[in-house]
Amino acid sequence: MEKPIYASLKSIGAYAPERIVTNYDLEKIVDTNDEWIVKRTGIKERRFAQDNEATSDLATKAAKIALDRAKVTPKEVDMVIVATISPDFFCMPSTACVVANNLGIIGKPAFDISAACSGFVYLLFLAKSFILAKACKNILIIGAEKISSILDMQDRNTCVLFGDGAGAALVGVTENKEKSIIEVQVSSNGEYQDFLITPGCGSRYPTSKEVLEKRLQFLKMKGNETFKIAVKTLINDVVEILEKNHLNINDIDFFVPHQANKRIITAVGEALNIAPEKVVLTVQKYGNTSAASIPMAINELYEEGRIQNGSRLLLDAFGGGLTWGSAILTFNGN
Ligand code: UT7
Repeated sequence: MEKPIYASLKSIGAYAPERIVTNYDLEKIVDTNDEWIVKRTGIKERRFAQDNEATSDLATKAAKIALDRAKVTPKEVDMVIVATISPDFFCMPSTACVVANNLGIIGKPAFDISAACSGFVYLLFLAKSFILAKACKNILIIGAEKISSILDMQDRNTCVLFGDGAGAALVGVTENKEKSIIEVQVSSNGEYQDFLITPGCGSRYPTSKEVLEKRLQFLKMKGNETFKIAVKTLINDVVEILEKNHLNINDIDFFVPHQANKRIITAVGEALNIAPEKVVLTVQKYGNTSAASIPMAINELYEEGRIQNGSRLLLDAFGGGLTWGSAILTFNGN
């Protein structure tokens, strides 16, 4: 009889652009101040890519690290999926096609998904499903954003919150259930589609002088409404995924939440009784990097030597759509 197979996270890699933008830098651009940003969000600085850097450039750098660490060559990659809301090009080609080409991966499926800040958890859901369906053996997943390219630098409600970056992982096959991606659950509710939205330049409001004058090409957010739903939804989602798998918070080594706001992370962590030292926080350094935030945070843990092969991670994410999701997995990298 054939042995059962499982999907596993075999490596992690990330790239943060070099340009650091502090809260004090933003004070010179919009009516804001360091004290407000730190108190309301925990963010002290973020990275902005250079004008000549696109999302695929950040993604390619993160992907190279993830492939290297997994000891998988580009030839061995069966599929490339990028989660982004700031693709290199509007509509086409996909950022995944550009990244695959940069890496020398030709003749394999490559495509983007749009699930905003939940992008990395959606990627894990897809990669796990393709592995279990035996359609692929090695899948390169990347959350990457040059979100500064869709920020309205006249809107203090949003421009202080986000940053650029990329995180990548190699999801492969294992026969060892103990080292697998245990569960991934993802959800959406389009009823709240206007909570996080780039209204202009799509088929609803195609590019026009009026759209540009109203600055509809940029990201808009109903921050306070989103905040309240995020906290409630994430708490319920994490409780559900733990219960479904007969696990409790003591079975988890690290909680790696999407890094939107320190207050959301703390509220969820406290409601679930997670010891603060298990809660991973990077929002102070990178702001909200949307689909890149979770893999960048896992990479931080990895580079600090805090996770090893066998560490169990609990992930959760929430973002535009609305979309959300969580995952429990055992890190199987070296
Ligand atoms: O990653 C995807 C999911 N995203 C999220 O989950 C983000 C969720 N939302 C949030 O993180 C928070 O709602 C924000 C950080 C966006 C805002 O914090 P808040 O505590 O909800 O503040 P608020 O929107 O209720 O605004 C409070 C005040 C307002 O002034 P008034 O009306 O009280 O006079 C704002 O105009 O803060 C003002 N304000 C600012 N002041 C200085 C808003 N942005 C700024 C700013 N600097 N940058």
